[in-house]
Amino acid sequence: MRVLVGGGTGFVGRALTQLLRSRGHDVTLISRHPGKGRTTWDEVSRLGLPPCEGVVNLAGENVLNPLRRWNESFRQEVVASRIETTNTLAKAIAGAERPPSAWILVTGVGYYRPSPTTEYTEESPGGDFDFFSRLVTRWEAAAKIPGDATRQVVVRSGVVLGREGGAVAQMLWPFRLGLGGPIASGRQPFPWIHVADLVGILAHALEREDVRGILNGVAPSAVTTTNGDFARAMGSALHRPAFLPLPSFAVSAIFGPERSVMLLEGQRVVPKQTLESNYRFAFPDLPSALQNILT
Ligand SMILES: NC(=O)c1ccc[n+]([C@@H]2O[C@H](COP(=O)([O-])OP(=O)(O)OC[C@H]3O[C@@H](n4cnc5c(N)ncnc54)[C@H](OP(=O)(O)O)[C@@H]3O)[C@@H](O)[C@H]2O)c1
Repeated sequence: MRVLVGGGTGFVGRALTQLLRSRGHDVTLISRHPGKGRTTWDEVSRLGLPPCEGVVNLAGENVLNPLRRWNESFRQEVVASRIETTNTLAKAIAGAERPPSAWILVTGVGYYRPSPTTEYTEESPGGDFDFFSRLVTRWEAAAKIPGDATRQVVVRSGVVLGREGGAVAQMLWPFRLGLGGPIASGRQPFPWIHVADLVGILAHALEREDVRGILNGVAPSAVTTTNGDFARAMGSALHRPAFLPLPSFAVSAIFGPERSVMLLEGQRVVPKQTLESNYRFAFPDLPSALQNILT
């Protein structure tokens, strides 16, 4: 299958490209920067969709970049980088002479209202109470295309864990130095997924003709994982103490109050449809996922 991957140069995109190529698929990336084996967003807007059978969008400005202040212009970039790229692809797919068979978007579990107790499946309501939930609603709406020539799948991902980027890469050094620990009380839910499983779900959704609709991209045990569990599992995989909590005022000072919600609160998410679609998780439990990533 020829697969076009928007934002495929990033952390998840590199893992997806490697997996798809290992399964014999042909991958073309869409990037802001031209290069070998790539096309650009501008080319897709002007010339339409290159010939392909599958399309995935992973593009988006990194929300938790600690070097970027959470102000209106950064908020706009976070929104536009997701909605405009998704719009470009949806339009190109709708206008394609030979539409692809599958169109997959990765969004986030920020769609669901953070809560220490409520459990969410793909059917649960959400999407209209804070910046992130509204962003996901608009992002998913931008992906909608008319007709059923193309199967549409949205994967709502949790925190992606992997060696090459994301949360683990950001937190690795403090934990290696024995300075790691929970964020605030550590009791907030920590919806996580191993990057191998997120890209496994994307390949499954591309390849299996019966998969459509929303899939939660979290590990099956993530519904009971807390931030404190994550800190303990990191410490244990690295053979380091992990008792030093990062106080909530420090998180708010670095990320700003609106963005801090992603770290100070969390959602208990169940991958119900993902399991019912017969996806088999390679890393259902946190200790085995972190052992794999860190050793
Ligand atoms: N990582 C996580 O824990 C996590 C959790 C939930 C959801 N997600 C979602 O999953 C997707 C992939 O995540 P990731 O961790 O792989 O992201 P990433 O490494 O930060 O990169 C995604 C790619 O997006 C493109 N991009 C960045 N800023 C952009 C902008 N302003 N305009 C257009 N494109 C831009 C970049 O490609 P070019 O530089 O080549 O243009 C980049 O390689 C994102 O949409 C993210 O929101 C990630």
